[in-house]
Amino acid sequence: MADLMEAITSLAKRRGLAFPSSEVYGGIRSAWDYGPLGVELRRNVKGAWWRTMVQLRDDVVGLEAAIIMSPRVWQASGHVQSFTDPLVECKQCRRRFREDHLPGMAPASGHGGEGTIEAGERRCPECGGELSEPRRFNLMFKTNMGSVEDEAHVAYLRPETAQGMFVDFVTVQQTSRKKLPFGIAQIGKSFRNEITPGNFIFRTREFEQMEMEYFVEPGSDEEWHEYWVNARFQWYVDLGIRKEKLRVRPHEKDELSHYSKATSDIEYEFPFGWSELEGIANRTDYDLRAHAEASGEDLTYFDQEREERYFPFVIEPAAGVDRALLAFLVDAYGVEGAPSASGDLEKRTLLALHKDLAPVKVAVLPLSRNEQLAPTAREVFDLVKPLWMCDFDDAGSIGRRYRRQDEVGTPLCVTVDFDTLEDRRVTVRDRDSMRQDRVPIAGLVDYLKERL
Ligand code: GAP
Repeated sequence: MADLMEAITSLAKRRGLAFPSSEVYGGIRSAWDYGPLGVELRRNVKGAWWRTMVQLRDDVVGLEAAIIMSPRVWQASGHVQSFTDPLVECKQCRRRFREDHLPGMAPASGHGGEGTIEAGERRCPECGGELSEPRRFNLMFKTNMGSVEDEAHVAYLRPETAQGMFVDFVTVQQTSRKKLPFGIAQIGKSFRNEITPGNFIFRTREFEQMEMEYFVEPGSDEEWHEYWVNARFQWYVDLGIRKEKLRVRPHEKDELSHYSKATSDIEYEFPFGWSELEGIANRTDYDLRAHAEASGEDLTYFDQEREERYFPFVIEPAAGVDRALLAFLVDAYGVEGAPSASGDLEKRTLLALHKDLAPVKVAVLPLSRNEQLAPTAREVFDLVKPLWMCDFDDAGSIGRRYRRQDEVGTPLCVTVDFDTLEDRRVTVRDRDSMRQDRVPIAGLVDYLKERL
């Protein structure tokens, strides 16, 4: 299974999907850059989320809040006090670990989502040395606003996007004129000074979240919680993740975040084990109440039917762009035998990504670099590229070019050959079945539309 992670990390690097950040300086642990294909894949993951969560609904609207918010936000939200993980240090080699991530430890409390510590033998997994007692380590990145470096000018990089939706709740509700139940969605970067980042893009210190705060009438919260757990599970299935690789895990009481009444994680069976893909929390009215109290502003909702004001409860599906992307990659990756041009069986790496996620939808491949083929191949490329993200590749043998497209998940390849010059038809090859259809250029766009 570790080999699978290695194969994916290596494919990601080789094909410019994702690779270590600042690599010319030896990299910076846990930070990754997304290259040309990675950018497309990421945009598609975010686009698919936005489409499902905002575009196709009439009860959810969008928001882009600032990453650096007033430090009072993080005081009021409880993050300054409670957004911590248990840190232990080896007394011998001085390495630091998150206690609940040590082998033999159950998942742990703290900022939630990853369980409680059980007493276990505290030994360093690297050198076997004795480990210190755990201390609470705050995960927020702290910096200063402006040129003065003192406590009065402290600022934090947001550790979750959610607080933007809480502090802007009234403005968004009034300007959008939404009635309960309704949601505010946001996609954006978050930062956590993780003690033990790792597993490629699974746990990093800078990452992107896709979060939605769904405001509901108190009393209807449990029903909505269940609704969103099911809806979010289905989103992954609809985008091609195998159902048996997904599960829902309700949190134990002592594992809940400081704001949560109930949380269920959607977990995926990664090569390194079942791990959280997304958390769906019932945040009650904790955040709105906390901000109302700390700011002195009225953050209640006026219910016209009931003719009363109250704090709505909040159901929060919170997903990670990078984690979702990793799950899509892992789930789509496979190596199989495929017949080569000579009829021999050769290895084919296939990224069977859902068509909506594939970084490139169509590759236009002239059979060879022959200058007679170039104008028609360009004509086909120009026809298709306004509609879908396309690639034009005329380097190397056609078989190798098909393989290159297969391993980055391009669903369809269009080949222009010498017959095309005579009959104005191209060959369209399907990534998964490798079936080839001869299609007139005049009908190509319609043919592709049916399949993309
Ligand atoms: N607003 C609630 C919240 O932030 P969370 O469970 O801590 O809840 C939500 O985070 C999602 O964000 C996670 O399920 C995961 O997909 C992603 N995420 C959290 N920490 C991450 C990290 N260090 N690296 C990558 N993704 C992370």
